[in-house]
Amino acid sequence: MEKRATTNSNNNAQPRFHQRAGEIQAYGTVNHALPLDLEEPVRLEMTEQLNQLLADTVTLRDLYKKSHWQVAGATFYQVHLLFDKHYSEQSELVDSIAERIQALGGVSLAMAADVAETTQIERPPRGREEVPVQLSRLIDAHQVIIRQVRLPGAPCSSARR
Ligand SMILES: [Fe+2]
Repeated sequence: MEKRATTNSNNNAQPRFHQRAGEIQAYGTVNHALPLDLEEPVRLEMTEQLNQLLADTVTLRDLYKKSHWQVAGATFYQVHLLFDKHYSEQSELVDSIAERIQALGGVSLAMAADVAETTQIERPPRGREEVPVQLSRLIDAHQVIIRQVRLPGAPCSSARR
């Protein structure tokens, strides 16, 4: 007798669409099951500050890409390339910060809407601006981040000592 392929759903390789379930960890919490020397309240404080730094660094990264795309004028070529170089460097920082938060048992911010609600960097207009204004916005954004990491108790402040 000929064997036929089963249609049992347990053996079906088709993906199941539209699956939803509760979160496995809420934002703003740290996993207490991790074998880390740092106490939970310390990790909560660190991950909160790192998420602020993450939101600002994501915003700075995106400000570099916006500037890269929208730049115009006599200095176009050099500035276009320079903005993209800094975009790439900020992208690496974003990944390091986010994965550090996860390694501390926290939950990293990830989506643009959540970043927009959290960042302290001023939102630029959607339209294009002149190069001096682009540069000024980028400097201001860097200053927001520098001020934050120099606060006493900031996760990065020990790197200065
Ligand atoms: Fe490009």
